Amino acid sequence: MKLMVIGGGGREHAMIKALKKNPDVEVIYCLPGNGGIAADAVCVPEIGAKDIPAQVEFAKAHAIDYCVVAPDDPLALGAVDALTAAGVPCFGPEAKAAVIEASKAFSKDLMKKYHIPTARYETFTDKEAAFAYLDANPGPIVVKADGLALGKGVILARTTEEARQAVRSMMEDKVFGESGSKVVIEEFLTGPEVSVLSFTDGETVIPMVSSMDHKRSGDNDTGLNTGGMGTIAPNPYYTEAVARECMETIFLPTIRAMKAEGRTFKGCLYFGLMITPNGPKVIEYNCRFGDPETQVVLPLLESDLLTVMQATTNGTLADTEVKFSDGAACCVVTASRGYPEAYEKGFPITMSEEAAAHAYVAGAKLSDGKLLTNGGRVLGVTATAATLPEAIKEAYRLSDEVHFDNAYRRSDIGQRALKALED
Ligand code: AMP
Ligand code: GLY
Repeated sequence: MKLMVIGGGGREHAMIKALKKNPDVEVIYCLPGNGGIAADAVCVPEIGAKDIPAQVEFAKAHAIDYCVVAPDDPLALGAVDALTAAGVPCFGPEAKAAVIEASKAFSKDLMKKYHIPTARYETFTDKEAAFAYLDANPGPIVVKADGLALGKGVILARTTEEARQAVRSMMEDKVFGESGSKVVIEEFLTGPEVSVLSFTDGETVIPMVSSMDHKRSGDNDTGLNTGGMGTIAPNPYYTEAVARECMETIFLPTIRAMKAEGRTFKGCLYFGLMITPNGPKVIEYNCRFGDPETQVVLPLLESDLLTVMQATTNGTLADTEVKFSDGAACCVVTASRGYPEAYEKGFPITMSEEAAAHAYVAGAKLSDGKLLTNGGRVLGVTATAATLPEAIKEAYRLSDEVHFDNAYRRSDIGQRALKALED
């Protein structure tokens, strides 16, 4: 089989390494891919993740049998719709279902209509109405830009004045562009966060092993929000009782709601959950695999990824085995110092063969056969082991074998989870 993966980060590298395990796979093209992914797939740097017409042309010209659309942008722009119409079966939701991530107002309204637990909220397109709501609901509150804002459109405001400032910057100053012309203001929830990625064909939903992201740039959750500095799986806060409750009150109701709305969701639906004192609630939905959650979830998948992905497309997930190992995984991201703000790039990357075998590369390019840093998050190294403490230790041991100038990583990935295991 000839496969095509759209995207070019650590998540896509992890998908490609898992897809390659299927003996029927002859070749995997990655559009655009990156210099590190080039070790495992044929990268096509000329075709960007959002260039849907070129992706369709490429798929036809190379007789692609199956395509995985990984990032949110092409999903929201209709890559799956266009490729499917051209006869290429795809993993991922159509645009009308991807809206569950692309519009926070849509997902919040969906949860309200179908009684899916989430933070109380109101949606505003009028600034004065938003201010009036803030005056009536003092104290810590959350202000979110409606559209995709690269994960940065969320302000956790401690005071009403901070919240007013957030509304002003989104609606007046347009710091997130048109994403901010509609804002969602919601209740401030507390509790540990859990990421649950799930496979779904629109009828059946099968949760994958749970995980925990580490979004802040610095140790002990200090510093700016990033795309994710590391992950562990499974997440100790996601107990069997919580998992049962999530299936009943969140996962199945969401899949049914999307179908009832004429927006049947197929692919990976990612539930960003907060385990509050009043039970699990949805913080956000993503219409895709998470990054770097994928880098800990897929190494624990024992079933064949391609078979499971195809079952979501064909509607046969109920008859498909999806098995995860009982072990644990830890992914430690090594970034360019300065990320998520300004950083330098172009430094040569060296690593041991063992580290390279465990690496999922995000921000790197090849130049004269040498791998150079080319992004904020450069790569993640994942280790799996029987227990979480062993996986963490091993992930750091291997990460110490990765070198480039101005390299930076958090030193506490997994520590919060370890503490939860002790309590
Ligand atoms: P989002 O982009 O919606 O995932 O939000 C980014 C981060 O902001 C989440 O991972 C949470 O840590 C935090 N957050 C979002 N919504 C809330 C809320 N209602 N209460 C508390 N924290 C929140
Ligand atoms: N790691 C969070 C996300 O992929 O959205």
